[in-house]
Amino acid sequence: MISKDAADNCILNQQGLFSNSPEDTYALAKEFSKLLVQGDLVTLKGNLGAGKTTFVKALIHYLCGVNPDEISSPTFTYLNVYNTTPTVNHFDFYRIANEEQAIQLGLDEHINEYSIALVEWPEKAPNIVKTPSYEVEILYLGQTERAIQIKSLKK
Ligand SMILES: Nc1ncnc2c1ncn2[C@@H]1O[C@H](COP(=O)(O)OP(=O)(O)OP(=O)(O)O)[C@@H](O)[C@H]1O
Ligand SMILES: [Mg+2]
Repeated sequence: MISKDAADNCILNQQGLFSNSPEDTYALAKEFSKLLVQGDLVTLKGNLGAGKTTFVKALIHYLCGVNPDEISSPTFTYLNVYNTTPTVNHFDFYRIANEEQAIQLGLDEHINEYSIALVEWPEKAPNIVKTPSYEVEILYLGQTERAIQIKSLKK
């Protein structure tokens, strides 16, 4: 569906990797997904509509084999679980009242050494996502243009 050539189109510059289309973003996510292992925590920052869910959909597709059309952000439930090996947990904290609520719901327990956690809006639960393996930041540049920064914080 997405060619590796598209990932190669994403040019690294000072703002990050340049994506010119959702397909470019998918291709980038495909390459990034190959780095992810059990226990990794990936945080995704960026304004509303930047492309965090688009990037996560691609990651889940490449990690779990799920059709992207069947993946949606857990806007109201905060967490979607994909039971593959390892388990992939997709969080969206945008609508969470506060971090206490996240802890009361036991969401923090789903960020653990046995699974891969992908977290949109980590700013809403800073203590739960204190030690990310990778930080992804997506900057909106234009209608289909995005800069995607991926920082590895693994030791
Ligand atoms: N280069 C691109 N990369 C990613 N998405 C793009 C790109 N160009 C256009 N888009 C579009 O931008 C939109 C991004 O929406 P998405 O839901 O992924 O954003 P989000 O960052 O998760 O927003 P929210 O904070 O509301 O959850 C999608 O409709 C997607 O098709
Ligand atoms: Mg989203």
